[in-house]
Amino acid sequence: MKFFIDTANLAQIKEAQDLGVLDGVTTNPSLMAKEGIKGQDNILKHYVDICNIVTGDVSAEVIATDFEGMVKEGEALAELHPQIVVKIPMIKDGIKAIKYFTEKGIKTNCTLVFSAGQALLAAKAGATYMSPFIGRLDDVSTDGLQLIEDIRLIYDNYGYETQILAASVRHPMHIIECAKIGADVATCPLSAILALLKHPLTDSGLAQFLADAKK
Ligand code: G3P
Repeated sequence: MKFFIDTANLAQIKEAQDLGVLDGVTTNPSLMAKEGIKGQDNILKHYVDICNIVTGDVSAEVIATDFEGMVKEGEALAELHPQIVVKIPMIKDGIKAIKYFTEKGIKTNCTLVFSAGQALLAAKAGATYMSPFIGRLDDVSTDGLQLIEDIRLIYDNYGYETQILAASVRHPMHIIECAKIGADVATCPLSAILALLKHPLTDSGLAQFLADAKK
């Protein structure tokens, strides 16, 4: 399973990259705003800065919600850097835009997916990635992981190549369950990736080894 980091924070992206297990980055307008990145030029520059830190795919989201607007914005984003993946919302014009970019060989990430039907449409349009938001489903008492399982089954039934990119991941158990189900990618906060490292028996075992090494 690929690990993406879900942030626009350059220091966290660098920390994850330095760990040696990072496969890419996802951003969205909320994450960009959280870092205080304002104005079109600064936003575009920030995407390039991210691409220069990591080696994998970097999702950059369009703001337009009509087909022409998404195509214009997406083309400008794709021209920024070869690692850019155009992130497009799961709406009617979004599906058309994904199809358009697929035919032009530009990678896409269909975002804001909350149902298996939406995932099926994204795959049929040829999306490179499709992002179900599992944490936000859990927030409304709906099983986000069950959705990943349903989509895995549907994609495998027909051999769709669209990658299931589990998003809105909140904690390490989400990552582990996604790996068991067979999600292709999990995009996570740095804290969830680092939490995978931790086990009290590792800490106490290491302390014991170090103490014994001094004897
Ligand atoms: O990848 C989507 C993500 O940024 C949304 O996460 O925690 O706001 O639901 P969250």
